[in-house]
Amino acid sequence: MDFFKKLLFSNLLKKLQFLLFCHKLLITEKKMYDPDSYDAYSEFQRRDARELIPYITENMDWRKADNILDFGCGSGFNTKNILLPLVVQDENINPLIYGVDVSNKMIDFASVKYASPNIVYMQADVLKDDCEFPCKFDKIFSFHVLHWILDQE
Ligand SMILES: C[S@@+](CC[C@H](N)C(=O)[O-])C[C@H]1O[C@@H](n2cnc3c(N)ncnc32)[C@H](O)[C@@H]1O
Repeated sequence: MDFFKKLLFSNLLKKLQFLLFCHKLLITEKKMYDPDSYDAYSEFQRRDARELIPYITENMDWRKADNILDFGCGSGFNTKNILLPLVVQDENINPLIYGVDVSNKMIDFASVKYASPNIVYMQADVLKDDCEFPCKFDKIFSFHVLHWILDQE
């Protein structure tokens, strides 16, 4: 029995490693950094965000001028259409959301298509120590990003 369990586990592990490898290949070939495609085909991420972000934000204590980081904002759809409306629920709250992404293409796209006076889009690799932000953050969000990080170590 132990033998079969080990066999099953090692096969699953191999499949998982293979999937991670394919995913990494797609990212390194930059196919997934195309903002137009990402924006057009990210209904799955949007559905998750619509469900999860309200659940996460409902018990948060919002202050008048919170600085919020959305790390790995991608095309900016979720930043503007899902996160921002949940944060600004009354007129006394006037936050600034920093939508940050390592991809210049994503940032350029978001700055045009999902611009807002409450959002600053900027390119940065949040894993780098020299990453300089103009402020400290009161809240940090990140959706569907960890598996996109190339250096998983
Ligand atoms: C699947 S997209 C998610 C976009 C958005 N958060 C959403 O929910 O639709 C992941 C994003 O993370 C970004 N990313 C990956 N590694 C990053 C890093 N080290 N620093 C900043 N952004 C990163 C990618 O460029 C990509 O746009």
